[in-house]
Amino acid sequence: MKKLFISLILGICCAPFVRAEDGYRLWLRYDKVANKTLLGQYQAGIKQVVFPGNSPTLVVAQEELTRGLSGLLGTEPTKSETIAANSLVVGTASSSKTIAGMAQLRAALKEVGDEGYIIRSVSMNGKPVTVIAANTDRGVLYGVFNFLKLMQTNKSIKALAVTDYPRIQYRLLDHWDNLPRPGDTQTGTIERGYAGRSLWDWNKLPGTISPRYKDYARADASLGINGAVLTNVNANVQVLTPDYIKKAAVIADAFRPYGVRVFLSAKFSAPVELGGLKTADPLDPTVIKWWTDKINEIYAAIPDFGGFVVKANSEGQPGPQTYGRGHMEGANLFADALAPHGGIVMWRAFVYDNKVSEDRTMQAYKEFHPLDGKFKPNVVIQIKNGPLDFQPREPFSPLLGGMPKTPEMLELQVTKEYLGDAGNLVYLAPMWKECLDSDTYAHGKGTTVAKIIEGKGEHHTISGIAGVSNVGDDMDWCGSNFSQANWYAYGRLAWRPEQTSAQIADDWIRMTFNNDPSFIEPIKKIMLSSRETCVNYMTPLGLHHQMSAMNNHYGPGPWVGETPRGRADQTSTYFSRIDSIGIGFDRTSKTGSNSVSQYFEPVRSIFDNIKTTPEEYLLWFHHVPWNYKLKSGKTLWISLIEHYNTGIEGVKHMQKVWDSMESKVDPERFKEEQHNLAVQLEDAKIWKDACLLFYQKYSKLPIPDALGKPAHDLDYYEKLRMRDKRKLEGEK
Ligand code: GCU
Repeated sequence: MKKLFISLILGICCAPFVRAEDGYRLWLRYDKVANKTLLGQYQAGIKQVVFPGNSPTLVVAQEELTRGLSGLLGTEPTKSETIAANSLVVGTASSSKTIAGMAQLRAALKEVGDEGYIIRSVSMNGKPVTVIAANTDRGVLYGVFNFLKLMQTNKSIKALAVTDYPRIQYRLLDHWDNLPRPGDTQTGTIERGYAGRSLWDWNKLPGTISPRYKDYARADASLGINGAVLTNVNANVQVLTPDYIKKAAVIADAFRPYGVRVFLSAKFSAPVELGGLKTADPLDPTVIKWWTDKINEIYAAIPDFGGFVVKANSEGQPGPQTYGRGHMEGANLFADALAPHGGIVMWRAFVYDNKVSEDRTMQAYKEFHPLDGKFKPNVVIQIKNGPLDFQPREPFSPLLGGMPKTPEMLELQVTKEYLGDAGNLVYLAPMWKECLDSDTYAHGKGTTVAKIIEGKGEHHTISGIAGVSNVGDDMDWCGSNFSQANWYAYGRLAWRPEQTSAQIADDWIRMTFNNDPSFIEPIKKIMLSSRETCVNYMTPLGLHHQMSAMNNHYGPGPWVGETPRGRADQTSTYFSRIDSIGIGFDRTSKTGSNSVSQYFEPVRSIFDNIKTTPEEYLLWFHHVPWNYKLKSGKTLWISLIEHYNTGIEGVKHMQKVWDSMESKVDPERFKEEQHNLAVQLEDAKIWKDACLLFYQKYSKLPIPDALGKPAHDLDYYEKLRMRDKRKLEGEK
């Protein structure tokens, strides 16, 4: 009774301060700094804020600074117009006289361009002062977020000398959000989205503006993401109607102060579907006029509209080839109409033929490489990281570096379509880094993918990166707390690809959970190994596209294609090439599809030779006999089994580490992740058993008892509908 009474009192007293952890605040939590010494340093270092200016961007930057400092320091900062010791001075040379007068900042500001910023500890008339300065208001906003991050991550704010600017110009999130269907009262669905439905409430726009638009833009801006494609690449022409343009304009207004520009996906057949024309032939004058008028109409409503992403002649989408033209004519049509407004067209290289080709992974290069240099300057070719389709592991796409005269942008998938969707803990930064750091040798050694997309060397006027968003209308935005880390990491890498996965994870953990080293280090370790864990239990040693055929891409389906169905190049056996001799896709020059020829030397020769191919890509490039000995001296068969086991052990380890963190995490997030990891462990076991049992049909080799017998027979796994099973178990 006494206990109950005390809890009641505590409950009542603390109620206003207690907030159930719903994950809404992402990494922008701004809880009071727990480390007393640091708190003292911060409070002493920021006695007052001098931050003049009233542009929409400066206003939101001021708001953010006040919100951040009030939370982190426990009191709202004093605002002033004059400098005193320990002032924080913020602005540009135009917004702040003090900054305009600081000659020592000028040289540094020259280095940071339109979006960068500097943070400096300086002395003004003998008074210690901290300055956040930039050339533009957007730069100031980025500087503010990064200054707050220093405190969120418990860094010193003494003797600061930060110079930071983005290496890539267009840093976008692509939302594969569908428009609501007619009569639908909910927002639209999201293709490959696992965090609820679309955030964009088109039905209520333009009248009602959800507060989440602003919070979404804040989160983007905190990372430097500066554009959002609002609609699915599998486009709906309706978004180009006057009504929808009005609605999109309202979203653009909400994003604008945060430096996030709006882009849309364009469906190639719109002149026919919407405009009533007989053709969408890109060379037809009526079609050119239709698009020009449409684009002018969009710019009249959204003056800073960014441009279009176009998926053409891929997976059934219409495109220039439908009218006997090529990608070049198609992309240049949009480019010409967008150019007067400063817009760009992101033309996707994710294409594959209507007819099944010998090797689907070769399509993009085959179609685009010959067109190098033929696109208008405001066309950028958007290329997925690998030659296939966002698999847990792919070698980098040979098209990256394969079009030196054309700007190329990288497309990454933040949503985990093929990696266990929102629930599975898979931190994607190491996967993206693997691609960004790959050496294409396009201009000799050291021409990494990062350098190509930064436009270095080629001096292209456009550079860009796009991440397929994992954001939906779930309260926690991403469907799970650890999925938020992927939004975060994507933004950080888009800003500066050379950052390490570990640095980014370290900051994210501190900002999202806490600054306790006994929490950070173990959690960081499991995050960093989580992607390899996933590869191990899903598609080890270069296997790819082994997932279920249920169009949800969740769970294993190595048997898909054994009985011919649909398009062969969308099936598992097409990619595994499994037979009694071995497994893996022969892409070598002598006996295979010769996809290796699309790479520059020495990459080409390295992949062409089974002895020099890194084992993680072995079955991507080679058809390998079951008894082939790997570097370990063990056979392919035994190594495969061991990789699945390592994957399972990896998940068990994550569970063990997470379980030991109960006292360091709030109960809501602790329990949620416990549940997610339990599901992930079950998934990993199913992947192992299902794949090995199927492969065994062909290898005819035993699974040694010591390596773990499958729990059921193959028939059981072939009938299992994993996504449905999870739903029955109450997963969101
Ligand atoms: C994948 C994905 C599709 C998507 C496509 C694309 O194939 O499964 O849903 O439309 O990629 O990138 O266009």
